[in-house]
Amino acid sequence: MSNPPRTSDEIRDAFISFFKERGHVLLPPWPLVPIGDPTSMFTSAGMQQFKPQFMGEEPPAAPRVVTVQRCFRTTDIEEVGDLSHLTAFEMLGNFSFGDYFKREAIRWAWELLTEVYRLDPSRLHATIYLDDDDSYRFWREVGLPDDHIHRRDEDLNYWFSFPKDTPGASGPCGPDSEIYYDLDPSRDPAEARLHTGPDGRPAGVGYSDRFLEIWNLVFMQLYQHPDGRRTNLPAQNIDTGSGLERVAMVLQGKRSVFETDIFLPILAEAQAVVGVDYLGGAATELQAYAIRAMAEHCRAATLLIGDGVVPSNEGRGYVLRRVIRRAIYFARKVGVREPFTHRLAAAAIGRLGGYYPHLVENQAFIQRALSAEEERFTRTLEAGTHRLEDLLERLRAAGASTIPGDEAFTLYDTFGLPVELTREIAAAEGFALDDAGFHAALEAQRARARQQGAFLKGEVSPIIQQLGDDHSNFVGYTHTEADAAVVAILRGNALADLLTEGQQAELVLSTTPFYPEGGGQVGDRGNIVTPTGVFLVEDTQASGGAIVHRGRVVEGEIRASQRATATVDLHWRRGAARNHTGTHILHAALRAILGTHVRQQGSLVTPDRLRFDFTHLEQTPREALAEVQQLANEKVRHDLEVQWRTTGYRQAIESGALAFFGDKYGSEVRVVEIRENSHVFSAELCGGTHVHHTGQIGFIHIIREGAVAAGTRRIEAVTGRAAEAYLLEQQDRLLRIAERLNTSPAEVEDRIDALQSELERLRKQAEQLARVQAAALAEGLVAGAERVGEAALVVARVDALSQDVLRDVADRLRGRLKSALVILAAEIEGRPAFLAAATPDLVARGVHAGTIIRAVAQAAGGGGGGRPDLAQAGAKDPSRIDAALAEGRRLGLEALSG
Ligand code: SER
Repeated sequence: MSNPPRTSDEIRDAFISFFKERGHVLLPPWPLVPIGDPTSMFTSAGMQQFKPQFMGEEPPAAPRVVTVQRCFRTTDIEEVGDLSHLTAFEMLGNFSFGDYFKREAIRWAWELLTEVYRLDPSRLHATIYLDDDDSYRFWREVGLPDDHIHRRDEDLNYWFSFPKDTPGASGPCGPDSEIYYDLDPSRDPAEARLHTGPDGRPAGVGYSDRFLEIWNLVFMQLYQHPDGRRTNLPAQNIDTGSGLERVAMVLQGKRSVFETDIFLPILAEAQAVVGVDYLGGAATELQAYAIRAMAEHCRAATLLIGDGVVPSNEGRGYVLRRVIRRAIYFARKVGVREPFTHRLAAAAIGRLGGYYPHLVENQAFIQRALSAEEERFTRTLEAGTHRLEDLLERLRAAGASTIPGDEAFTLYDTFGLPVELTREIAAAEGFALDDAGFHAALEAQRARARQQGAFLKGEVSPIIQQLGDDHSNFVGYTHTEADAAVVAILRGNALADLLTEGQQAELVLSTTPFYPEGGGQVGDRGNIVTPTGVFLVEDTQASGGAIVHRGRVVEGEIRASQRATATVDLHWRRGAARNHTGTHILHAALRAILGTHVRQQGSLVTPDRLRFDFTHLEQTPREALAEVQQLANEKVRHDLEVQWRTTGYRQAIESGALAFFGDKYGSEVRVVEIRENSHVFSAELCGGTHVHHTGQIGFIHIIREGAVAAGTRRIEAVTGRAAEAYLLEQQDRLLRIAERLNTSPAEVEDRIDALQSELERLRKQAEQLARVQAAALAEGLVAGAERVGEAALVVARVDALSQDVLRDVADRLRGRLKSALVILAAEIEGRPAFLAAATPDLVARGVHAGTIIRAVAQAAGGGGGGRPDLAQAGAKDPSRIDAALAEGRRLGLEALSG
């Protein structure tokens, strides 16, 4: 017998080989983003990708399947940092679709554990559902003694593929049997039985930490309906899941998953960051907790970013953000101030990269995404902390000693300040936090999110339901014109029989070539002609389960049930098709040039332009954009065929077609593909309309590219005739510019350079002249200065061209006259400008240029002020300059003789 597996890589291999030898086919896992399943945010179990097969909606790829599924769960996130909880883990699973059932699942699990892993059988326990006598029998068959088989209720021995506490949630489920490993057999065997622990809570296998769950065998045989009813699934299935980290912990004889080879290199890096010998046992409890949280969260974030999630303020991106921020929060708590997430990510990739090459490929992107978030959060922490301090001050002033829950929630939700941190800072200043209020606010937000989720699923409107099934047969992929019947006329929320000229309405047809807005592509326009009238379609939408044509009657009248010819505006449709195919080509070109981390997010496809967002961290250099455009247009020139086919969702994903996160796909999907010889240049799941050959696009021209959010960029482009028009206009503008510069387009830049140097030369000359002018003016004014005691008073209107000259004159006067008060006025660009300046000795005597100039400007209907030694002001009416100066002189005399 060969040695039992020890390392995590060996365990994975052993599991896969064991089940392959028993007729299982190894299938690729899902990414952590469950594509085509908008009801779940993350892939959290191996069975998730098999829901349609369990429900009989889709044939399984094979009756027996084995997978290694990376999973992410947020349920325990607040506990990560202790010895056992994780958000990300790998689940080893074997599956049967109506093939083998309980007996084999139990026997094989037992064989793998005792013969391949060679675990001590006396340390294994199993739990089974209360009345599951079959499982009891099969466990006895393999040799498990009666006192190692424990019956537990639904809380423990039922598995639901949906959040079972959410009312109305539904999906496959079934009783299960869990396998536990006794971590401390030296203790009393009676502890295995169900009993009440010292804390008054249930204890025993399934409840006590002494017994570690290492494998869950789910007998997936029921479907729970939204109303709670359970009915049989089409077949009896097996879904098992065994956590790789826990199995490694047991086989490597470790105290926690963190000491297994899976975490060791990451922990080593984390302890280096913190600067304490964790593995040598030198860390304080808080340091140890922080090191584990940092390691776990950075590893989880690495896996999430590797599967295309980027930090953001909503949905998956928000969860990722929370994970990263929690790691940083704990790191800061133990004194870490340097960026570290990229280092831990490198360690995680070093460990995982062998089995997950996509992480190595995207390493640079993953590290940059982490560092960018780290930087952002460090700033946020500062801003959030300030806000919290302000809040505490306000509360203190109001005599309160508790932070209201909604305030804590705002700090958390809007400012990204973890509530633990809020609590901690508050406590240090003698404040409590209203936890209940915080959780109420949080719950309210979650409820809103759930509602949005339900809305996404799209209820069929009752009106459309009344129409039965015979409507909205879409033929637009192959036709732009179709004969149809008017099935329904919708006015507001009601059905109508007749529409007269000018009336707005929505028409539903039996058959339609009109593409309803979707996948970013705008809805078609065109017209619907019946024997009695013409309906102009201004927009087409998929709504409430039907294709709805929005518009108005432009001629005659339209009646329900009439025959009709529906014709799409070809010009409109062709433009949209060009831009839709153009979007696919640009997306593929961006991925080819910038890297496969680029993923299109939302998009807009109209007849004259296209725009989409994509994941990418930094600004795209102009040269790279030029390369993208060149590559895209090369594919246009090669006039490649654009093909589409419908296929199974799984086949599509496995063959590399790109799907969009969060989009809902049926089991049959449409793949739009552009190939060059045998190489697939672009393949995407897409329901849109496309050109047949890339050459029809004519030309793709990128108009701009810029940031829209952290980690998300937006690109805009034009194609075909719009691209031509755009370029012509640009050229026209260049010609006009050249004309105005009296030169040719080729020499425009030289001409601008020449103009700029000319401008610079003139500016210098003007400065020089101004200085000469100021000197001359000052000279004249020195001669005319009035003496008041020891000081000189100059009050004058001068011909200065700018405020600078006024100031220069004043400075010169102060220099020449030593002790002087100067009040000047000038008309600059048609408006009065005033300036007062005083030498320091006068300022010391209490002369204030600012006060004087305010009064002077007021005398001319203006205002201003300034320092005691220099002040400026302006007014509107130049005819009042002299009067203002007279007032200036009066004030000057008064100030100097005072
Ligand atoms: N679906 C079960 C679980 O996630 C077994 O794979 O535990």
